[in-house]
Amino acid sequence: MEEKALLELKNIGKSFDKNVVHLDINLKLYQNETLGLLGGSGTGKSVLLREIVGLEYVDHGEVIYHDQPIQNLKEIDLFKIRTKISYSFQNGALFDSQNVFDNLAYPLFEHTDLSLEEISAKVAEILGLIGLEGSEKLMPSDLSGGMQKRIGMARAIILEPEIILYDEPTAGLDPSNTQNILSVMEKLKGTGVSSIFVTHDIPAALKICDRILILYEGKIAFSGSPREFIDSENPIVKEFFLNSIKEV
Ligand SMILES: Nc1ncnc2c1ncn2[C@@H]1O[C@H](COP(=O)(O)OP(=O)(O)OP(=O)(O)O)[C@@H](O)[C@H]1O
Ligand SMILES: [Mg+2]
Repeated sequence: MEEKALLELKNIGKSFDKNVVHLDINLKLYQNETLGLLGGSGTGKSVLLREIVGLEYVDHGEVIYHDQPIQNLKEIDLFKIRTKISYSFQNGALFDSQNVFDNLAYPLFEHTDLSLEEISAKVAEILGLIGLEGSEKLMPSDLSGGMQKRIGMARAIILEPEIILYDEPTAGLDPSNTQNILSVMEKLKGTGVSSIFVTHDIPAALKICDRILILYEGKIAFSGSPREFIDSENPIVKEFFLNSIKEV
């Protein structure tokens, strides 16, 4: 019997006025799988992640999570979904006027009944995981861009979601911060988490993803293992490779 997908996108279409971003998107994400979602700038990768967590409505098609359609849900129903499917924003999106502790504790106060003591322990644990232990009292402005991104990622994973959507978690980071983020992603994968990893970093995607997808002209133009991606004769894959080398 075929394994059931945890999350499935079926025939998704999305336009902003005349700008057709998604023509017909179909994809499946399985338990404990890491999907790499590649594609040129403006092809709709971030919009796709936002559609999954309901930050963007789709024009047609379905987002199925555990057999339930979750597209276009009302805010109150999305509240629950977002504890299970978490979106790690492209820019970290920290609250600038709150310190690291408050930024990380926020989802726990919002979605759990944990005591302050339990929340403090959880925050300390997650800071350890991302290699920023003891930084609870720092303000976002005290942190480098790379550290802010790591805190943003910590906030996305603190509720132990089933699915994590990473939107360019390593973009603009130095090699050491990049390595830190990738190793956290690998650790989480080891705990059974499923994820979609949007990135322009092809080597990173090849290293940690089980499957690579290319978004091109509103559709998933390629889906295959890292090996199949490298060996592909598909002209879209080849063009994508060439363009990404030119961008460097
Ligand atoms: N809220 C919005 N209103 C109108 N147009 C939007 C909105 N959000 C995104 N778009 C448009 O949708 C298209 C896809 O945007 P998106 O941010 O998903 O691209 P991307 O693939 O994530 O690009 P990048 O790699 O640069 O992050 C772009 O043409 C963008 O201008
Ligand atoms: Mg984007």
